Amino acid sequence: MTDIVRYADAETLASSVAERLIARLAAVQNDARVPSVALTGGSIANDIYSAVAASANRREVDWSAVDFWWGDERFVARDSAERNAVQAREAFLDEIGAASARVHEMPSSDDGDLARAADAYSEAIREHGTGAFDVVLLGLGPDGHIASLFPGYPQLDVDDRIAVAVEDSPKPPPLRVSLTYPALNRTNALWFVVAGDGKAEAVSAALADDAVIARRPAAGVRGTEETIWFLDEPAASLL
Ligand code: 6PG
Repeated sequence: MTDIVRYADAETLASSVAERLIARLAAVQNDARVPSVALTGGSIANDIYSAVAASANRREVDWSAVDFWWGDERFVARDSAERNAVQAREAFLDEIGAASARVHEMPSSDDGDLARAADAYSEAIREHGTGAFDVVLLGLGPDGHIASLFPGYPQLDVDDRIAVAVEDSPKPPPLRVSLTYPALNRTNALWFVVAGDGKAEAVSAALADDAVIARRPAAGVRGTEETIWFLDEPAASLL
């Protein structure tokens, strides 16, 4: 089932999703499991990460016992500010005390070639993953992309791999690694996080009953327990 949760503005969205993430991870740990989250890049995601770091409730979670993965990554130097992982580290991972052995960054251009990077990440998930994520966070591009799955791109059709290489992303930088649909869909909770009126058309098109995945990649993902679109009012304005 797909739910839509609307907030007045991006700030409220970020702090509310941060609280939900904290509560969800705490619940998994109370069940004596190590939670796993797939992070996304993007501006609202970074605001959520900062809100987690700033939250008074963040101590409900033992952050050293959370596995962090990425839904996609820019294939640039490991310390580049363009890396989703660098942004997440700066916004919250360093501050909350995530365990480096549980921060599973995608390979960077320092590690070798792009095709090998995608294979290496697939192997890492096979080896250290739990079979499913507890939460996958996804931003949405104005063109409807999620992770680095872009409209009309061949990666949308890959169903026999966990991670794929993207050599010509329309959003810079061009080289990226992305999880595939089968990998993203192995999650209990799939949370879209979208803010701003520049996303309104993409949101309404992805949620339309007749959305075609090849044109609206966001329409191809769903969680096994829940699929929730967290939107601010501008992003929800065309619904
Ligand atoms: C990336 C992201 C990408 C992002 C959306 C939304 O590497 O660029 O992972 O999928 O989440 O493009 O980004 P904004 O929130 O910055 O618009």
